Amino acid sequence: MAEWWADAVFYQVYPRSFRDSNGDGVGDLDGVTAGLGYLDDLGVDALWLNPVMVSPMVDHGYDVADPRDVDPLFGGLDALDRLLAAAHARGIRVTMDLVPNHTSSAHPWFVQALAHPHRRDRYIFRDGRGPHGDQPPNNWVSVFGGPAWTRITEPDGTPGQWYLHLFDAGQPDLNWNHPDVFDDLEKTLRFWLDRGVDGFRIDVAHGMAKPPELPDMAITDTALLRNSEDDPRFDNDSVHDIHRFIRTVLDDYPETVAVGEVWVHGNERFARYLRPDELHLGFNFRLVQADFDAGEVHDAIDNAMAAAELAGATPTWTLSNHDVEREVTRYGGGARGVARARAMALVMLALPGAVFVYNGEELGLPNVDLPDEVLQDPVWERSGHTERGRDGCRVPMPWSGDTPPFGFSSAADTWLPMPAEWASLTVQRQQAEPASTLTFYRRAIQLRSNRTEFGGSGVALKTVDDRLTLRRDGGLLCVLNTGTDPVPLPPGEVLLSSGPLTDGLLPADTAAWLV
Ligand code: GLC
Repeated sequence: MAEWWADAVFYQVYPRSFRDSNGDGVGDLDGVTAGLGYLDDLGVDALWLNPVMVSPMVDHGYDVADPRDVDPLFGGLDALDRLLAAAHARGIRVTMDLVPNHTSSAHPWFVQALAHPHRRDRYIFRDGRGPHGDQPPNNWVSVFGGPAWTRITEPDGTPGQWYLHLFDAGQPDLNWNHPDVFDDLEKTLRFWLDRGVDGFRIDVAHGMAKPPELPDMAITDTALLRNSEDDPRFDNDSVHDIHRFIRTVLDDYPETVAVGEVWVHGNERFARYLRPDELHLGFNFRLVQADFDAGEVHDAIDNAMAAAELAGATPTWTLSNHDVEREVTRYGGGARGVARARAMALVMLALPGAVFVYNGEELGLPNVDLPDEVLQDPVWERSGHTERGRDGCRVPMPWSGDTPPFGFSSAADTWLPMPAEWASLTVQRQQAEPASTLTFYRRAIQLRSNRTEFGGSGVALKTVDDRLTLRRDGGLLCVLNTGTDPVPLPPGEVLLSSGPLTDGLLPADTAAWLV
């Protein structure tokens, strides 16, 4: 029998932004539990929770100070247990983010390392270059902008060594050559798996291992996680030992899954992460990178299928997440952006493999242009205010009512402000409208999980001009029109379309499913 995740719809919950149960303006785990009925109706199979471990929240949880406890902001461990029990009672699995590349600078190991030079070997400390050691040990840049090294002050008050952080200075990189790092990760994995967690999304799965000599990098492109071929910061071969190690632990827990965030150059490198003794799934970001263009979407799908095939693995699909601009905005915004996002949702949900829907995508939420003074992403500061960062795709979900905070919270002050015009996008409004994006998503997910035409692992693609046609082994046809004029549909019964058909034709910016 196929694994449960092989055709699952995962719903990504950004816990700060899903639903706030205690009125502090920040979403939490009891909020997720309260929203389970909604998620059940949407038809999702599993959740992926962005990090909820104890954290100073410099990078909203991707800076973990205690990997085996839930932050009080999210309700503590008991709230997670409540969520696990309630989700499992509904048959919804729960996967968590795991952050093995780095810890928070508030992690006890790092605090110890600062105070005791001989305890620095679990991180990557080096002396600086130059006669006074005041130049960073190499030229690596942080993914968030600026140098990837920060100089510390030694306990005696003198300027001291430097430590590596590929992200924020509050996120020191771990030294994966140290056995403690492996032992501790095993403890962490078992801690959550023993509590009933169904698997992990592995953050920066292409990171962790560093070349021992830490050579300078040739490139200076700091674009978020877009790796180039000769970037010594990422995708070093010994990372695979770490993935094999993680897999041996997961193999002790049947039906658990590891999905890696893998940004690497080319399919050959990608496929290595999906070997039978490594990750079960790897995020493929080709659809995120493709423009709304039949040829580009065709190539993205071909490429992602080929990457998965190389490893004999299950393909994965995603249109957005907490790190990228929302697709409604990427595709041009406004009514057109929504129409295109819905069309692309039909394409994504027509594909074989695991699908990841990012909270709010099912409501057709756009990115939000936030004023400077509310920005929180460390990217904003680290880039010297040249990159606005990722807050615009992390604005809380609108649930009900006509004014912010739209039932997200009882506090008027939400951690990011919610736009007044979202009154028309609330769950409550959309639930009542047959033509809403939410109703459309529900219908699409329901058909995907119930109809036999979605069976089989293959898909045949054909693009003629601006029309992409996709045929599943089970018989489903999906047609996407990225041109400007309506196009004819092939013969068959239309199961669902992303917008109204006109005289039996498929309008621009629209997709349809046929059997
Ligand atoms: C991943 C996460 C991102 C985070 C970074 C550092 O790319 O998706 O949100 O900032 O890792 O942990």
